[in-house]
Amino acid sequence: MTEFQPRVFSGVQPTGNLHLGNYLGAVSRWVPLQDQMPTIFCVVDSHAITASFPNPQELTDATREVTAAYMAAGIDPKKSIIFNQSQVREHTELAWIFNCVARMGWLNRMTQFKEKAGKNKENASVGLFAYPNLMAADILAYRATHVPVGDDQKQHLELTRDIAAKFNNDFAERITELGIGVPNPTPSPELPENLYFPLTEPMIAGPATRIMSLRDGTKKMSKSDPSDLSRINLKDDADAIAKKIRKAKTDPDALPSEVDGLKDRPEADNLVGIYAALAGSTKEAVLKDFGGQQFSAFKPALSDLAVEKLSPMTNEMRRLTEDTSEIDAVLKDGAEQASAIAEPVLKDVRKIVGFLDVR
Ligand code: TRP
Repeated sequence: MTEFQPRVFSGVQPTGNLHLGNYLGAVSRWVPLQDQMPTIFCVVDSHAITASFPNPQELTDATREVTAAYMAAGIDPKKSIIFNQSQVREHTELAWIFNCVARMGWLNRMTQFKEKAGKNKENASVGLFAYPNLMAADILAYRATHVPVGDDQKQHLELTRDIAAKFNNDFAERITELGIGVPNPTPSPELPENLYFPLTEPMIAGPATRIMSLRDGTKKMSKSDPSDLSRINLKDDADAIAKKIRKAKTDPDALPSEVDGLKDRPEADNLVGIYAALAGSTKEAVLKDFGGQQFSAFKPALSDLAVEKLSPMTNEMRRLTEDTSEIDAVLKDGAEQASAIAEPVLKDVRKIVGFLDVR
């Protein structure tokens, strides 16, 4: 190979319900990428057991449900590889090797671990601590060059680059000797001339696509929020969507005519942002239409738009999950395609580190 093949990799955990934040902030943004380069979208079930083991049947169901959401949102199995992580053993095998590349100090800095482990770090699973190494393995098992994710995953992607850089450096001679390196596209004194792993580019969704809780505009919309009113689930029906938007927290003022006027009004900012994202438009344009109006007028318009945009997807998700055979066939085919890429990579990696192959 003379250069890294451009490739997109991303994933969502099958835990709880997918919500509007996952859709607008992640999956919907993946759709256009399918026409730009090869794309791999993974349902990361091995990550879903790190905080604690979910109920097994719920994990199975959630894996199919996330797959259905991908497809209903427009991820096309004819264009993209769709599969669940645990079906391709190379992820966990490479994660083990990365456990031995990444340093304790690097992982100790991960803010997501600190948040998820909370006060009781001693009782967190080793898997939760090593989670970012598995994420690096997800990406690098395909030598993926582009990873679209939300803001909150930026630190994990930096770690992925650090792991790739250390592996490339530590094994530089060996990689060149075996003739399996790729000339570094952006030469720098910190890296050898030939790389085995690319330094993956993050494609970070800006704050504009960050969807916040409907109950608190300063907190991210989250599946772990105890209040179901805080989020719009992709499975919510029209009545539920209307009710949640009606009850969404706001302030007493009318909407401003300029984006500047949304400053220090997190709830207003969030609802305008959701409208803009659903309409495929901008906050400026939304405020041009709704500036000066009260929430009593804006909320019904937002709720109509949300129902109009989400209900075809919800219906398609329902259709897909009614009978598991279509989804399972997509996942099976995806796992086979994914394996065909990851297997030769792991073969190289075993050779690079010097594992004896006698089979
Ligand atoms: N950690 C990601 C999240 O919580 C999910 C994820 C796992 C992922 N592996 C990945 C995202 C690889 C991008 C690429 O959102």
